[in-house]
Amino acid sequence: MSGASNTTAGGAAPSTSELAQPSLVTRSRDLLTAWDAQQAAYITGREARFTMMLDILEHVLPPDGVVLDLACGPGSITARVLDRFPDVTCIAADYDPVLLELGRNALAHHGDRVRFVDVDLWDAEWTSALGDARPDAVLSSTALHWLPADVLARVYGDLAATVAPGGVVLNADHLRHLDGRPLFEELSRLDDERTQQRDRAAGAKDWDGWWADVTSVAEYAALAVERDRRFAHRPPNPELSLTFHVEALRMAGFAEAGPVWQHFDDYIVLARR
Ligand SMILES: C[S@@+](CC[C@H](N)C(=O)[O-])C[C@H]1O[C@@H](n2cnc3c(N)ncnc32)[C@H](O)[C@@H]1O
Repeated sequence: MSGASNTTAGGAAPSTSELAQPSLVTRSRDLLTAWDAQQAAYITGREARFTMMLDILEHVLPPDGVVLDLACGPGSITARVLDRFPDVTCIAADYDPVLLELGRNALAHHGDRVRFVDVDLWDAEWTSALGDARPDAVLSSTALHWLPADVLARVYGDLAATVAPGGVVLNADHLRHLDGRPLFEELSRLDDERTQQRDRAAGAKDWDGWWADVTSVAEYAALAVERDRRFAHRPPNPELSLTFHVEALRMAGFAEAGPVWQHFDDYIVLARR
């Protein structure tokens, strides 16, 4: 359908109130920007973390490589990869129907350089949604902590079987200090608190406030029903350590694995196939 038409499908001119509404694409871009601010309030240095991941990609990714953004949300990593690497394509995978649709709309201007796919990482067959793609890099942020130990270990095995030879996984996430270091835990908590206070004062929404804005858009409110159904009975976060992630990656078959960035209990873990 042409975006240039000035009339509705029935031929009538749009009403004044219709004209005053920003398009779904514009709303979606604004919501993605607000998502970034909302998430950054929970993660000190979130943008620096992304920059570090992309700096690593610059050294290891073929110019026309394929990047898988795993548990992509509305596509924050994908947006940054597509902007920085003009010949790279992205597959953005998530299980949240609202965030997938929001990402599709917000990043529609990238055309066929991006494909959003609906996957549940709990499903052992999830990689079939990737088709023939062999990603050169898998990037994930603030997401894999949702997976219980056995599911995470299996997902790392799935990635080892899917990533192109020599390809990399970069996982940025909160990995709690659970080994009897109360000062470390306390400093992480205080740092989180300070970032939230600072960013909220600057206008960032909290999680519930952001979701209230999204579901005020009719198209997304409709999908939120399915979202609620999908996530209704998932268990709480399992709190896995850095050591667990690194060992699970090695056991999954990655040749090298370890942290490349840390801010208190926030890490980027790199693995190479
Ligand atoms: C806090 S968001 C982070 C999104 C994005 N990576 C970012 O940093 O902005 C966590 C994401 O994990 C996704 N997720 C949780 N469980 C999942 C599952 N079983 N399969 C696929 N995605 C999942 C959620 O839908 C959500 O988009």
